[in-house]
Amino acid sequence: SQTDRELLYKIHEVANNFYQEQMRETEEGQIIGFAYFKERELRDDIIKKFQLGYSPEQRDAFTEYALEKGYNKEILEKSGLSIFPEYAEKGVDRFRERVMFPILSFSGRVLGFGARILKNNVKAAKYLNSPETEIYHKSKVLYGLSQSKQAISKENLCLLTEGYMDVIALHQVGIENVVASSGTALTNDQIKLIKRLTENVTILFDGDAAGIKASFRSIDLLLAEGMNIRILLFPDGDDPDSFSRKHPKDFVENFIKTEAQDFVEFKADILLEEAGNDLTKQIAAIKSIVESLSYYSELKKDFYFTRISKRFGISEKSLFNEMALLKQKKV
Ligand code: UTP
Ligand code: MN
Ligand code: MN
Ligand code: MN
Ligand code: MN
Repeated sequence: SQTDRELLYKIHEVANNFYQEQMRETEEGQIIGFAYFKERELRDDIIKKFQLGYSPEQRDAFTEYALEKGYNKEILEKSGLSIFPEYAEKGVDRFRERVMFPILSFSGRVLGFGARILKNNVKAAKYLNSPETEIYHKSKVLYGLSQSKQAISKENLCLLTEGYMDVIALHQVGIENVVASSGTALTNDQIKLIKRLTENVTILFDGDAAGIKASFRSIDLLLAEGMNIRILLFPDGDDPDSFSRKHPKDFVENFIKTEAQDFVEFKADILLEEAGNDLTKQIAAIKSIVESLSYYSELKKDFYFTRISKRFGISEKSLFNEMALLKQKKV
């Protein structure tokens, strides 16, 4: 309901202030939370800009605080910030002993949190995120959009990364036109958010990109929306965060500009290399490439057909035939 939504926005604002205060004003927060961000070489101004915080170890630190402030059990539970197990008398915090990344709406309201565990190689999930609530729908937000929207408009380009830290690290080196899909395949709603600001997207994948092929579908969605997509794979297991800390800003900017490939070219490389000499796989690859190309303008299509035909020894006529078949299927 409307009142619930208002309360949910309020309680997230309260939580966001709480986690930031815990980090700045408690010894635990300093020694564990703040130290973590320092270890990752984040500057103070960036920690503030992204409103980063820390959730303490105490099981019910936030729940207790919020109850005292007058928020009731029902709304705390709905917010996803507290959990009230049936067997227990008291509620517990969802986020404990983690560094906190508030997830903001386009206009800057706190909708939920991503929370990172402090040590790697622990059994628990590296990032714990807010559950779906009345105000937080994972598929409808892009992390960093609120802080990046102006730069995206100004540069007329949106850099799309995988993770929270990628957005933050790029801001730190002065590249501010960047958002993250937060490890999920891009959705139509997220594409619409970008399209309000620009039609140009450069996708920055982790060098470990296990999910590249899985993401082809969602990239076709971007093409279908008429967007221009380029793609960049970072070398040697780097992601934008680690890469931007190894190289100066100019180098990073230049790298993104010059190394980003047109999406269809990139796709052709990956699929055809993977197909090797297997004819069935080659044909499947070509079909999939033609599918992506079908969203391109006639001029662009022509250009790519010539290139693909030369490079892979397929006649341009067969490519056009395949495209025609595809169009028939669609109507
Ligand atoms: P990555 O594993 O690439 O993490 O996941 P990262 O952003 O580089 O994190 P650091 O540098 O180790 O801190 C990319 C994104 O996928 C989501 C998060 O949004 C993360 O930023 N993710 C990942 C989760 O939601 N849960 C996980 O357990 C892991
Ligand atoms: Mn809703
Ligand atoms: Mn990754
Ligand atoms: Mn990563
Ligand atoms: Mn990373």
